[in-house]
Amino acid sequence: MEAFVHGEIHEFPDWYDEDGNVINASDGGVIYAEGKYHWYGQAFRPMGFATQGEGGQSTTTGVVMYASEDLLHWTYEGVILACSTDPTSPLYAPMRFERPKIVYNEKTKQYVLWCHYVKHPGDHGFLPGTGEAGVAYCDKVNGSYTWVGSCRPINEEGIVRDCTLYKDKDGTAYFIYDRHPIKDKENKNRCLHIVKLTEDYLAPTNEYKRIEAGFLREAPAVVYHDGYYYMVTSGLTGWATNQAKYLRARTLLGEWKDMGDPCVGDETHTTFETQTTYIFRVEGTDTYIHMAERHNTENFLHCSYVWLPIEFGADHTLSLIYRKEWKL
Ligand code: GAL
Repeated sequence: MEAFVHGEIHEFPDWYDEDGNVINASDGGVIYAEGKYHWYGQAFRPMGFATQGEGGQSTTTGVVMYASEDLLHWTYEGVILACSTDPTSPLYAPMRFERPKIVYNEKTKQYVLWCHYVKHPGDHGFLPGTGEAGVAYCDKVNGSYTWVGSCRPINEEGIVRDCTLYKDKDGTAYFIYDRHPIKDKENKNRCLHIVKLTEDYLAPTNEYKRIEAGFLREAPAVVYHDGYYYMVTSGLTGWATNQAKYLRARTLLGEWKDMGDPCVGDETHTTFETQTTYIFRVEGTDTYIHMAERHNTENFLHCSYVWLPIEFGADHTLSLIYRKEWKL
């Protein structure tokens, strides 16, 4: 690939790795480590949404990783967090490691992965093990990650849905998730929460904040720029796309303000037919890329990736402008 290619907003162009295989790394992120960018995500199975009967989608592979020096040419690095064939394993497939995210812990020298862990696809969170935070770690970015376990931060009442990880300037890391109270089957009280992690990043602490402006929002991704934290989010319509909204705060555990839709000229109010995945910085530059995904519910192997540069306004605003194709 010589440029990021997105096509028209309803198209699903495939992205290929250097072996010519379609990249299958959904809803993950990019981490720069050991001189390269590493792109990781959940490898979906090629099943149609309507026919699965498993609550949507699942994996029998796990989380996979690709490496690149220029963000355009990706070499497959393999499975970093593998599903298991042992029925007694918490990673017994088919299951889901949704929205996996990785940050590096300078103190422990470990890469730590958090995800929305769904042991039993088919139940979207009401049985134990179907809506938790899953944690794994590795001493190499692209090694085989060790499963730590799963938990519900704050307390057991809050089912874990869409999530992200954010590592702050001071090295503190936070798990941000759509907390769905177990008794709230009608979605009247779902809200994004941000939870400070322990120093080793392997567990939640008791310090957290309910992000009121993140009421009924999901797919969060955070970026810091010039004194403000920004969080891009989606609404709650499953795989159907919806209008993005971003929030802004001075401090991560402080007050987040609703800043509206960051998408410029998005006439269909669908985040350009995508859903947010993650935000990362291009090494050595002030360019931040907003990763989003055009989920292909007919065949999840052919989800399409839409990576756009973030524009920051002088008045501390954030915007996204659609480009059918662009280069760094
Ligand atoms: C989306 C969510 C995805 C997945 C999907 C299942 O809203 O962002 O991560 O959970 O729903 O329907």
